[in-house]
Amino acid sequence: MLEGEGNPTLNKKTGLPRKRFYRARAHSNPLSDSHFPVPISPAQVDYASHYPKLSDGSKKIEFADIGCGFGGLLIALSSLFPDTIMVGMELRDKVTEYVKERIVALRANNPGQYENISVVRTNSMKYIPNYFEKAQLKKMFFLFPDPHFKEKNHRRRVISPHLLDEYAYALAVGGIIYTITDVEELGEWMKSCLEDHPLFEALSNEELEADPAVKLLTTATEEGQKVARNDGQTFQAVYRRIAMR
Ligand SMILES: C[S@@+](CC[C@H](N)C(=O)[O-])C[C@H]1O[C@@H](n2cnc3c(N)ncnc32)[C@H](O)[C@@H]1O
Repeated sequence: MLEGEGNPTLNKKTGLPRKRFYRARAHSNPLSDSHFPVPISPAQVDYASHYPKLSDGSKKIEFADIGCGFGGLLIALSSLFPDTIMVGMELRDKVTEYVKERIVALRANNPGQYENISVVRTNSMKYIPNYFEKAQLKKMFFLFPDPHFKEKNHRRRVISPHLLDEYAYALAVGGIIYTITDVEELGEWMKSCLEDHPLFEALSNEELEADPAVKLLTTATEEGQKVARNDGQTFQAVYRRIAMR
């Protein structure tokens, strides 16, 4: 019997939550104050509730999907890197709820799998240092972030020179930041922010080819699939955290 049989919010065939019960506003303003619990330091992150089967304290979160939306990337990464703990960070509450329920259902229907992924409702522009210690992360993903087209709204973008300082703090040397968008101007912006930052360098073409996570950038997320269905062009920038010279 599938998880939640008889529960109308779950799809009868797949046992997964149905998106129409988690309708969300198209956007949330990352600069406005929202009210949700935030750990006061990385030591306060509640691993036992997020990863109940892996919470012996020996492992920490190593991948973060920033603005994870409906969670497609986390789910694809979960089986590709089964020994790595990862988290999605999402600002919209309904979308976060959907991802939570999706993970609960996937765990129930596939015992032993999907135990390494979870999601938090948070504003990544404000609270990255509350979740991650210095050099804790090996990968950070920014897939199809909101473009905030108008110049006065560029300060809402999740990639910016000052936020890259924070990401450089949270990433280990050798850790990788993945960005992709279908908006050319935003693609150029993200690339130039990374290119100009002294603690990041671009991966070579050979490195991009060899990295299994790169293949997921265009295929794994809901937004990426929408762009692919419409034959849209994408613009990616993948950079490595380097040591201070
Ligand atoms: C266009 S969607 C892309 C979602 C997903 N990455 C994908 O590719 O399908 C951007 C997501 O980022 C979230 N977001 C925007 N600003 C954020 C912030 N400061 N912190 C966390 N999430 C944010 C939005 O709520 C939205 O779900």
